[in-house]
Amino acid sequence: MSVLFVASEAYPLVKTGGLADVAGALPPALAEAGEDIRLLLPAYPQALDGVVNRRDGRSMGDPFGIGEVRLIEAQMPDSGLPVYLVDCPVLYRRDGGIYQQASGEDWPDNHARFALLSQIAARMGNPLEGGDWVPDILHLNDWQTGLAGAYLHYYGIKGVKTVFTIHNLRYQGQFDPSIMQVIALPQEAYGVNGIEFHGAVSYMKSALFFSDHITTVSRTYAQEIQTPEFGYGMEGLLQARAEDLYGIVNGIDYGIWNPETDRLIAQNYSIDSLDRKMANKRALQREMGLPVDDDAPLLGFVGRLTEQKGVDLIAENLQYIMSAGAQIVFLGTGDKRLEDFLKELSSSHARISARIMYNEEIAHRIIAGCDMFLMPSRFEPCGLTQMYALRYGTLPIVRRTGGLNDTVTDLNEKEGADGVVFDVPVPQALGKAIGRAITAWKDKNEWRQLQQNAMKKDFGWDRSAQEYIKIYRKPRRVRV
Ligand code: ADP
Ligand code: GLC
Repeated sequence: MSVLFVASEAYPLVKTGGLADVAGALPPALAEAGEDIRLLLPAYPQALDGVVNRRDGRSMGDPFGIGEVRLIEAQMPDSGLPVYLVDCPVLYRRDGGIYQQASGEDWPDNHARFALLSQIAARMGNPLEGGDWVPDILHLNDWQTGLAGAYLHYYGIKGVKTVFTIHNLRYQGQFDPSIMQVIALPQEAYGVNGIEFHGAVSYMKSALFFSDHITTVSRTYAQEIQTPEFGYGMEGLLQARAEDLYGIVNGIDYGIWNPETDRLIAQNYSIDSLDRKMANKRALQREMGLPVDDDAPLLGFVGRLTEQKGVDLIAENLQYIMSAGAQIVFLGTGDKRLEDFLKELSSSHARISARIMYNEEIAHRIIAGCDMFLMPSRFEPCGLTQMYALRYGTLPIVRRTGGLNDTVTDLNEKEGADGVVFDVPVPQALGKAIGRAITAWKDKNEWRQLQQNAMKKDFGWDRSAQEYIKIYRKPRRVRV
C-alpha cells in the first residue's frame, strides 16, 4: 500500500506543537514497518531550507487562479523519507508564523493556503494527473487537510482511501461562505451533505463527513469528543461516525527524547544512574536564574500558553507553590495576557522563572532538570510532553483527560504509579495534586520507585504504527 501523509507542519522542518512531532516521527515508523509512505507539506521557506536532495518537480497548473503551483520533490533531513512540497510562493513564502502573522492574527488567506494543500493531496491520488507515484491512501491530519475528501468527491477521483486524524478538535478551520469563490469546489459542495456547517464552511466538518476512517490521538479523547463538552459542535457527527472512529495514542521519538543520549542536556542519565539527574536540576536552576538548591522541589511547564493547557490553574497556585518551598519554571508562548503575567512574576519572584519564547533546547533541559512536570490541561487530545517527562523520570502532574488519562498512572494505583492525576479543572484540585506530589518527593525511596516506573514505560512509535496499518488495511466505507 502506498500512503501519502499530509500535514501542515513536521519536525524538524517546521513546528508549532505536537502535530509536527507526530508528522516527523510516525511516517518513518510506518516506513520501518514496511509501508510505502511519503509526506506532503506546504513549501514554507523553513521547509524549502530544511529538506535535502531537492528536485524541481512537476507543475500542478494554477488551480485557484493566483499563481502556478509546483510539486517539489525532496527528502526529510533525518529519516530520508520522500517528501513533496506544494510550492505556491504567493501563499506560503512569507515571513512570520505558519498560521499567523507576526501580530498574532491568523493569515487572512488561510482558507486558500490549506484548501490548496488539500486539493493537491487529492489530485495526487488521481492516476490521470500523471504522477509517477500515486498513493492508495491519503492519511490526513487536522483541519488544514480537511477539504481533501471533498475534492476527491467533487472531482470524481475514485480508488483512494482517506484516513483522517484529529489532533485537536478545538481548531476547526471555519470560514465565511464567500470563500467558495476561491477554493475551486462546485457551489453544490456548500450544503449539509458537504462542507457547510451552521452557515459557514468548515474544513473539519468536511473531514469528518467525507473521510473513510477517522482516528484521534488517544482512546479517552475518542470518547470525549462524542460529548458536547469536548465536541465543539461536532459531537453529533462524531457519534454518527462512531463505528469508523478509533483512538490511537501517539508515541515519542526516542532518537530525540532520551535522557541517555540527549545532547541538549547537562548530564546524561538512565534508569540505573538516576543520581546523575541532579546535575541537570542544578544546571537548570543556574540557567533560569533560580537559587541552586537540591532541597527545593522544582516544577516545570512547557507548552502553548492557552486556556487548553490550564496555565491559569497553575497561576492560581503560585502562592501555594512558593509557601511549600518549591521553585517553578515556565517555557511557552501564546495568550498575551498570560505571557505578560508570567514575565512580571518572573522578574519579581526569585523562585519563579519564565521564558516567553519557543526554544527546543530549553524544553529539553526543563524536562530533564525538573522534579515534576505540570500539565493541568482542560482537554488534551494526547499530549507529548508528559510522555517526554515520564521518559526523563520527571513525574507529571496531570488532569484526568484525553491522552493524559491514557499515559499517566496516579500515585495511589497499586501498579505502575508514575505521576499524580486529578479530576476537576479547578485551582484547589491542582493544588492538592501538587501537595501530594511534594509529599511523595520527600520520601526518596518512594520517589525513586515512581521514577523507575515512569522510565520503564514504553512509548515507542512502533506499536501505534501497527495500529495505523490495521486501519489502512480496512475496506473503504460504503456510503449509503
Ligand atoms: P500541543 O500539540 O497541544 O501543543 P503536545 O504536548 O502534543 O501539545 O506537543 C507540544 C510540543 O511542542 C512538544 O514537543 C513541546 O516540547 C513543544 N513545545 C511547546 N511549546 C514550546 C516552547 N515554548 N518551546 C519549545 N518547545 C515547545
Ligand atoms: C494536538 C494536541 C496534543 C497532541 C498533538 C499531537 O496539538 O493538542 O494533545 O499531542 O496534537 O497529536
